[in-house]
Amino acid sequence: MEGHDQILQHCKFEVPEIVFGRGLLSQVGACARRLGGRKVFLVSDQGLFNAGWVDQAMHSLLDAGLSFVYYDQITPNPKDVEIETGAAEYIRQGADVIVGLGGGSAMDAAKGIAILVSNGGRIRDFEGPDKIIRPLPPLVLCPTTCGTGSDVSQFAIINDTERRCKMTIMSRCVAPDISLTDPDTLETLPDEYVCTTATDALSHALEAFFSVASTSLTDVHAIKAVRLLSRSLVKAVQERRPDDLENLSRASLHAGMAFSNSLLGIVHALAHPIGGFYDANHGSVNAVLLPEVLRYDLPVVTEKLPELAWGLGHMTNGDTGGAVEMVQETVESLLDACGAPRSLRSLGVNREDLPDLAEKALKDVCIVTSPREADKKDLLRILEKAY
Ligand SMILES: [Fe+2]
Repeated sequence: MEGHDQILQHCKFEVPEIVFGRGLLSQVGACARRLGGRKVFLVSDQGLFNAGWVDQAMHSLLDAGLSFVYYDQITPNPKDVEIETGAAEYIRQGADVIVGLGGGSAMDAAKGIAILVSNGGRIRDFEGPDKIIRPLPPLVLCPTTCGTGSDVSQFAIINDTERRCKMTIMSRCVAPDISLTDPDTLETLPDEYVCTTATDALSHALEAFFSVASTSLTDVHAIKAVRLLSRSLVKAVQERRPDDLENLSRASLHAGMAFSNSLLGIVHALAHPIGGFYDANHGSVNAVLLPEVLRYDLPVVTEKLPELAWGLGHMTNGDTGGAVEMVQETVESLLDACGAPRSLRSLGVNREDLPDLAEKALKDVCIVTSPREADKKDLLRILEKAY
């Protein structure tokens, strides 16, 4: 703890205003109006429209006296062209506030559009840390999955369709003004996505906890997320009780606050090029990589394992070897019990692409905060084991 206190003297911890509670999607109009909006650019997708949530959001906007433009030309792993088309439409329509409703794709698309309407240029101009010059228009993000954390994070992940890779845009500017979570929206999320998005939250929590930039402020949120996930992940997938689904929403929020401020590690450094090249589901890629990255990381983070073991519902007696095994086994059994995919091969990854993917991961910003340094050989070994 002494180490944490020393770090805390130099750390910053930033989160948006947070509105959390069942039924609160009805407040999205009031949130947008409070930020000074008159004409809302509402970004969502067909799945959310079919489930009825877009309609609820539209009613809330109208009840608040706002007009809106609806934009749903986005796909999973949102693409640069979709962002650039959306920004042109925002400007053409004279909108003045953005609401993103959906999973990471809809919310990251909303962030990307916000960047372009105030800064101009192409979205690839903003790849990397702190490239955004001008402040973004008011932004309200409403997550409808339980993993992305985009609603509180300082990241936006957009696919570069020419290079076939994911760009990580990192800036305080991309954290929204308001994060609004209504856990009721999880009730229409298919089982498969409950599992894969919650697995993304589990990766966020664990990588944030082991990050070299973690502090006591981020650890408290990471451990809370792990505790909620270990208690409710399997039950939420198997029984779909509202209380367990709400715990997953809450876990996603806590994990998001943790990783936005402490960054991530090797799981996400590898998941970004894989997701970008194969257009693969982000949570599924994380689920496959997480056990192998843990096997690589755990031997160098033993000091933090008793706290993590507590988060996972165990007590340790200070035996380091025992704690390593306990954490590894508990995380793997959680993934198995909720039906997460367990091999890169099953996700359509080609073995001959692994060296190239390892090379790309070395350039991803997430590699910087990994608790254990890794070169291309190390990353390739992790990929081979996960194959
Ligand atoms: Fe993620």
